[in-house]
Amino acid sequence: MKLIRSYPIIGAMMAQVIAALVAILLNAALGGVIDARLFFWGSLMVQGGVAAAITRALGLATWWVWIGLFFPLAVYLALASGDLPAWPFGVAFLVLSLLFSNTARERVPLYLSNRLTSKALLSLMQERGATRFMDLGSGLGGVVRAIDGDGRIAVGVETAPLAFLVSVILSKIRGRGRIFRQDIWSTDISKQDVVYTFLSPEPMARVYQKAKREMKPGSILVSNSFAVPGLAADEVWDLSDRRKTQLFIYRMTDVIADTSK
Ligand SMILES: C[S@@+](CC[C@H](N)C(=O)[O-])C[C@H]1O[C@@H](n2cnc3c(N)ncnc32)[C@H](O)[C@@H]1O
Repeated sequence: MKLIRSYPIIGAMMAQVIAALVAILLNAALGGVIDARLFFWGSLMVQGGVAAAITRALGLATWWVWIGLFFPLAVYLALASGDLPAWPFGVAFLVLSLLFSNTARERVPLYLSNRLTSKALLSLMQERGATRFMDLGSGLGGVVRAIDGDGRIAVGVETAPLAFLVSVILSKIRGRGRIFRQDIWSTDISKQDVVYTFLSPEPMARVYQKAKREMKPGSILVSNSFAVPGLAADEVWDLSDRRKTQLFIYRMTDVIADTSK
């Protein structure tokens, strides 16, 4: 189960294999009894339905359940679509993997902070007289570019190759902020006044432990949307955007809170 929690794609593949076996057994039992066309579409629905049910039972996120449901139909449509050229799919796969490479490994996809969030972070920096800012997992670098300047030094670290490349180019063009191709876990955050994350629930306990170990007293960890499990934030900022963004703000002191439970 731990393996499936860390790599949900293994659970999703297992669900399809088991569902395919169920569909094959049904085929053996009922083939020839029911109209062939009806039977074919029924089998696709059975495989999708069983896969979705198994995915749900494994406790995977809702989008995996939808993928489980429609995967057999998508495979059929792709196979039945005739002589479509293969290269656009190859290119799309390559681009998506270079952009979303941290999704399978870290359980953190790419989605971006909006303008109101950058503004809130900027006012937090100004309010606290902070000058050094780091975005851990900086995506396309939008937050870094929004914060950098007027005496503030903002940097980001990002490992997804395409996100890194695009953010470096945009930062160079705008002349704001610096992005490093560096893993969050090996990045030194000890000199930052404000460290920002917009990741997923999965790594938050580890992020907080890292911040507590490395950040100086008085500095601030801000997490967009994902609270540190089992720990009350020092402040929660509710933004008035459409997605009702919440910023969880943790002030660093010398006491290390135990979030491992
Ligand atoms: C949800 S996006 C947020 C992007 C940006 N911080 C923003 O708010 O617009 C999270 C980013 O973290 C990156 N990421 C995830 N794990 C990482 C790791 N271990 N090291 C570096 N970057 C990572 C992902 O590639 C992704 O671009």
